[in-house]
Formats: sequence, structure tokens, C-alpha cells
Amino acid sequence: MRPFHSSRRAAGVRRCLLLAPVLAAGLGIVRAGAPSAAVHPSIWPRATWPLRPDAALERRVRALMAKMSLRDKVGQVIQADIGSVTPDDVRRYRLGSILAGGNSKPGGGLLAGPAKWLALSDAFYRASVDTRRGGVAIPVLFGVDAVHGDNDVLGSTIFPQNVALGAARDPALVRAIGAATAEEARAAGIDWAFAPTLAVPRDSRWGRSYEGYSEDPAVVASYAGAAVEGLQGKPGTPQFLDGSHVIATAKHYLGDGDTRDGKDQGDAEVSEKQLRDVAGAGYPPAIDAGVQTVMASFSSWNGVKMAGNKGLLTDVLKRRMDFQGFVVGDWNAHGQVPGCSNVDCPQAIDAGLDMFMAPDSWRGLYRHTLAEVKSGAIPMARLDDAVARILRVKFRLGLFDQGAPSRQPLGGRFDLIGGAAHRALARRAVRESLVLLKNAHHLLPLDPKRRILVAGDGADNIPKQSGGWTLTWQGTGTRNADFPHAESIWAGIRDQVHAAGGTAELSVDGKYAHKPDAAIVVFGENPYAEFQGDVPTLAFSPGDDSDLRLIRRLRAQGIPVVSVFLSGRPLWVNREINASDAFVAAWLPGSEGEGVADVLLRGADGKVQYDFRGKLPYSWPRTAVQTPLNVGQRDYHPQFPFGYGLSYADDGDIGTLPEVSGLPANVAAPGVYLERGKPAEGLSLSLRAADGSRVDGATAPAATRDGSLAVTAIDYRRQEDARRIAWSGRSAATFALQAGKPLDLQRQTNGDVMLVATMRVDALAPGRIALGMGCGGQCAASVPVDAALAALPQGRWLRVGMSLKCLHAAGADMSRIDAPFRLESATKATIDIARVAVGTVADKTLACPGR
Ligand code: BGC
Ligand code: BGC
Repeated sequence: MRPFHSSRRAAGVRRCLLLAPVLAAGLGIVRAGAPSAAVHPSIWPRATWPLRPDAALERRVRALMAKMSLRDKVGQVIQADIGSVTPDDVRRYRLGSILAGGNSKPGGGLLAGPAKWLALSDAFYRASVDTRRGGVAIPVLFGVDAVHGDNDVLGSTIFPQNVALGAARDPALVRAIGAATAEEARAAGIDWAFAPTLAVPRDSRWGRSYEGYSEDPAVVASYAGAAVEGLQGKPGTPQFLDGSHVIATAKHYLGDGDTRDGKDQGDAEVSEKQLRDVAGAGYPPAIDAGVQTVMASFSSWNGVKMAGNKGLLTDVLKRRMDFQGFVVGDWNAHGQVPGCSNVDCPQAIDAGLDMFMAPDSWRGLYRHTLAEVKSGAIPMARLDDAVARILRVKFRLGLFDQGAPSRQPLGGRFDLIGGAAHRALARRAVRESLVLLKNAHHLLPLDPKRRILVAGDGADNIPKQSGGWTLTWQGTGTRNADFPHAESIWAGIRDQVHAAGGTAELSVDGKYAHKPDAAIVVFGENPYAEFQGDVPTLAFSPGDDSDLRLIRRLRAQGIPVVSVFLSGRPLWVNREINASDAFVAAWLPGSEGEGVADVLLRGADGKVQYDFRGKLPYSWPRTAVQTPLNVGQRDYHPQFPFGYGLSYADDGDIGTLPEVSGLPANVAAPGVYLERGKPAEGLSLSLRAADGSRVDGATAPAATRDGSLAVTAIDYRRQEDARRIAWSGRSAATFALQAGKPLDLQRQTNGDVMLVATMRVDALAPGRIALGMGCGGQCAASVPVDAALAALPQGRWLRVGMSLKCLHAAGADMSRIDAPFRLESATKATIDIARVAVGTVADKTLACPGR
């Protein structure tokens, strides 16, 4: 492999890391045995808070605080979610802030345009300054996860996810995106972005890897200040926190990307020095840029939950690094501190948390916090410090002087939302972030005058090219039509090919009317966020090789194939790379799909429009079980190193890559209960008759003794990879998947996660059919689904989903599910099933009766 400029620097970083344990041991920091959670502030870097002491501001803060009652102060340190709080609650409890979580929208629906956001923001603002019921007028702060554009608002520009920006190695681009995001947010009445994420993800199995810029601390450090300045403006200039900027949040402090096995909200088991040098790299530059808030991580460091870590929040962040903004918690994360609950956690305030993110728990938390300040359990001085920090931020942002959000300079400027300038910027970001992994016989760039086939389920799929935190929390449940200004990758290619006089054809499954000169296959990961995206290995789409088969089929027909891989992280795709002539890592490019055509296609004049300039921000794995990047690791040989990325001048023939995945046969993906017709590892399949007798159904054929239920093997995509379940209707019988160990599905239930069956209804007589779950002993839930199943098209394979919330509402205790899928029928029915899993994508969602 040829040497790369940036990979040399990375090697330098890595060499330092190799030495880290040795040095740390020399300093006496690392103990043998259990990793220590002791904090030594003096070994941490200092940062420089860029704002001068401001006597006038301090006077205003003091004067205001002198008027505030204890209740007013307690309200200030609490943030509630718009799904669980009303303007009237804010009027009454004087809450300091509101947020809209990933699935919380004005009006309660799934989607809302800017006018609704602005009206909601106005309503909360008015309530916060309304003192008719007592209290002091203090404008409320409104925060959202504007993490790749103002992505909660319908019609906003959706920028590439941070993983893609990491490939661009362009701080100026990151700054410009921050500024554009801030403008779109302010237009819709939002003044606080929970961004940037400064995680340095070290294990790509973590489902939030795409929210981080890079595995390399140097890349993250080079972006941190730029991202903050983009959102907030540059300290010392008139633009700083003016009406076109928002408050930024450096998150998640600290070690969110270092957790063991890449587990979300897990434990970072690393030395203090590694925590400082890797996870910590982005914080000093963010503080130097004047970041106004820092979000404490859900995760732990050596067993200590960050929301309760005084050493790191107070001694390091606030004292050593001189951070003078405020620390906000994560979504009920304080409830995970030992001894705390979601509604009660003096420990977090004591540790240095200034504002609780208490989405649905704010009321109880208010009550307990108030009582604890009264009893002295929370020192008054600590509460005063937290309130003063919050008020300073509000004054700096000009909240007291600007009036209602709709009156502010950009309030109601909806032309900015998804406006041409921002979309052009996003398209440029797409171009800069594409990484070329292979380009055999210089297949790329393609000639747009030829006949081009565009295939794959990612080709015309804006939700898929955008990923999580896009309109919805997991990025699921939306369609192209929900992105009014956006362009799919297909649409961008089509437009340019047509303009040049060529022919372009879209065909998801690769079947074509006229044989093309080349095919572009767009495929990859489906959207996910947070823990839903955690995976046990780096295998792409385990158990489903349909994309690989599509690529191979086209190749076998003599058609050169360019693969465009959509993903939030590097995954093991050596077989797909071998099967393709050219392979592009496109990450999650967002709403401006045409940026892909800009690079893949020549112009109508035959010249290269834009060359590839993206370089890998994460190393790309050689096997699906490649050990993650670790300090002290000498044998790290990724398939493509950090910094790799070809351009058009390079020889892109990379030979044949090894196709040994390293996976044991039949590994069960997490949350998969039935795969290829068979129960996944740790599960069994049983057929239960009305008299309670059970028969093992794992090997087909199988039948209950009374003949009420029979299971046979049938073909779905391969030989015997599905089961036909035939109920005779003589008496009720149940097809059930049993888990050896109870499953905890609470976290999934809390979000918009479903139970999804890949199934086909063949025949159905009227009568009772129920879908359910078991939760041990007498605990079970069962939801009638006969009407819903009868409404499905017969004879067609579909992914059919039912929300876990529905099963929970029907009585399932989601903390101990021992039968994740039960289908019971008292009527004659024939239903085929290939797969059952929890997931966020379905072709049909069964209605939840009574909701
Ligand atoms: C995430 C944060 C996010 C917050 C608000 C949490 O679950 O960890 O990144 O800012 O929710 O949506
Ligand atoms: C997320 C929120 C989301 C919620 C869904 C949280 O973990 O951070 O943004 O709306 O889960 O229940």
C-alpha cells in the first residue's frame, strides 16, 4: 500500500499511545490490578477561557439572583422535554430549559415544519417571562440535537454525519456547517444545539461511532474549536452569540467513545492518561473557543458514572480547564448514578452537574431537589453556582434583551431552512467526504454520456443516506417525501447523466430493460441511533448477503460495478469490495445526494468535475472480528489504515482482499430471534397446543400432537430458510420463540423500536389471532392482530412490525422477556416466517388496538 501523508501523522499519534502505558506506569499512575478511577487534575491540560471577566454581566446576574426565590433557582437547573412539559408548567415551575428529544415534535406527531417549532418556542418563551403567577422573568433555553444540521425540523439542510466530515479533514468546512446549522435553528426558534460530539470512538461496534469525527484524537481536536465557533460565533467578535448563533454543547464528557466492546452507555476501562489524551483531546480546544455548555456522558470511567464524577466534572473540567459555562446532564443519566433515581439525585449536583436533563422526570426531580436544598443536603452555594453559570450563558446569548424567538433577528426566516446556500455547502461536504477504496482499471470517473444503471436499496432512499438523528430519533419511519428540498443519490446521478445526453435507469433489484455500460450499486446500513446501532461484530448485514449477490449478478453479466457504501462506520465488506470494480465509502451524506454524482461522473465536457479527497477517519477492518484499536496494541493491521483514500491519479487496482470474516458460523446478531427460519442462538422454538403440551419446533417438520399446528420448511431466498406455520383451526395453538435467559428490552421500548417479522400471509380464515410476548410465570402480553393480518396483501413477503410500546401497554414487563415472539391462532391460517427481530424498519406496521 502506498504511504499516505496523514497516516504517517496518525502513526505518530499511535506511537505515542503505545508508549502511554509505559509513561503512565513511570509516573506511578497505573496500578496493577483493577483500573483506578482516581483523578489527578494536575496531569490534565489547562485550557484558556476566552471571555474576559465582565463586571456588568456579573452585576446583572447578582441582581437577578437577589430577586429569585429558592423555587426559582431550583427551576433554573431543570430541563424538561416538550413531550412531557407544557408552557403552563414552565410558567408555574420556572424551569430553566426545555429540550426536544429525538422523537419529540411540536404537535406530538412525527414531523413538524419550522412554523410549528417557532410557535412552540414562542409559547414557552412567553410562559418563562410571564410573572403573573409570581417568580422572576428568565427566558427559557430551548435545546435540540442539531447534530448534522437542524435535523429535527422538516425541510432543514441535512449535512453529512460527523464520520463523513472526519474524512474531509477540513476544519473550515466544519465551521461553515456549524454557522449554517445555527442560522437554520434560530430561524425555527431554537437557541441551543447539543453538538458537537467530541467522542473519539475506538471501537466501531459502538452505534454512535458516526457521531464522532474520527478515531484519531488529533482530527477531533482540530475540529472541536471550529465546530464550536461555527455554532456560537468567534469570541471577541460582534458575531459571538449574536442572533444568528446558538449555544453549543461539547459532548459527551468523557470517554463515551472508549467503552468496553463499544457498548453504548458502558464503561471506559482506560488509564487516566489515555482518557486525557484520546477521549479528552477535543475539550481544551472547545473551551478555548468558548463553548458554553458541556454534556456529561451516560457512560462510566473505570466504574464511576460520569454524571456523578466530581473529579472529572469539577476538578478537571471546571477548575483545571477553567470551563466557565454550565454542565448539562444527559437524558435521565443522573438516574444511573448509584443511590440516585431519575427523580432524585443530589449526588450529580454535588459532582458538578449544573442542569439536569430530566425529560419526563422533571416534576419529581423538582420536588426532591427543592427539599434537599431546604434540608441542606444540597449546599446553597452549589445551587447558586449552578444557577449563576446558567444565567451567565443566557445573558451572553442576549436572551434577556431580544424578546420572543419570532422577534429575534432570524426568527421566522424560513427561507434559510434548506436554503440554496446551505444546500450548496452540504453538497460540497458530500464531495469532500467520499473515500475511494478501490478503482480497478480506472473505472471511475464514469462517462455521463453512456448508459448507467443505478441499483441497490440505498439508491433512491434519503432516510438511508441520512442515518440516525434525522427527523426522528433513529432516523426511521420516514420516506423521501418527508425531505422536501433533498435529493437522493439516484436523483443526482440521473440529473447529471440526462444533462450530458446519457441514459440513466433506476432499478433497486438490478433488473434492467437495456444492458447498461456500467452499474452504480448503492447499499449499506439502515438508519440507527444510540444503543440500537450497537453490534457484536463488524460484519455488514450478517445473515443477509443480498447486496453481495446483486453486485455479483451484475458483474457476471459483464457489467462493471461501482459500489457506493452507505454506513456510519467502517464494516467488514471485503467480499463486496472484491466483487466490485470500484468501491466508495460514502458514509451518511445527508440530504444532498448530488454531491456523489459530482465526484463519480465526469462533466458533460468529459473532464473530471471533482477528484476524491476524502481520507479514512477510522481504520477499516480486515476481518469482522478485528480487535478494536487499543492502546499498547502492536499487532493492529487494518485492511485500510487510518488516512487511506485513493484519488483519480492513483492506481486503484488493489488486488483481491482476504475473504475470511473470522466469524464463527451462525453468529446471532443481537435482537434477532429467528434467522433463516431457525431460532437464533440462545433461543428455542416451541409449538404449544390448547392443552398446554409443547413440542420442539426447531427442526421442521414438527407438529403438535392434536394436529392443531404444523410447521414445515420452505424456501424464502434460499433453500429451507423459512418456516410455514399452518394452523388447522380445530383448537387454539401457539408458535413461540423462547429465550434461554430473559431479555431486557426496556431501552428499546423507550424508543420507537418494533418487533419485526419477515413474513407472508398465505391463507387466513376469520377468527382470533394474537401476537404476544411472555415475561415469565403469569406475565404475558397478547395483542389481537387478525384484522391487521387480514389487511396485509396475501402471498407477499413483507417485514411486518409491531411497536414494543404496544406490547408493553398490553402488559409485557419489558425487563424480563422470556418469549420475545408468540403467534397464537384459534382459526385456520397459513403464515410463513423467515425472520423475527427487534428493529426500526418495517414495510407494514400493525396498528396497536386501543391506542
Ligand atoms: C443522547 C444525547 C442527546 C440527548 C437528547 C441522549 O440520549 O445521549 O446525545 O443530546 O439524548 O436527545
Ligand atoms: C433519546 C431521545 C429520544 C428518546 C426516545 C433518548 O435516549 O436521547 O432523544 O427521544 O430516547 O425515547
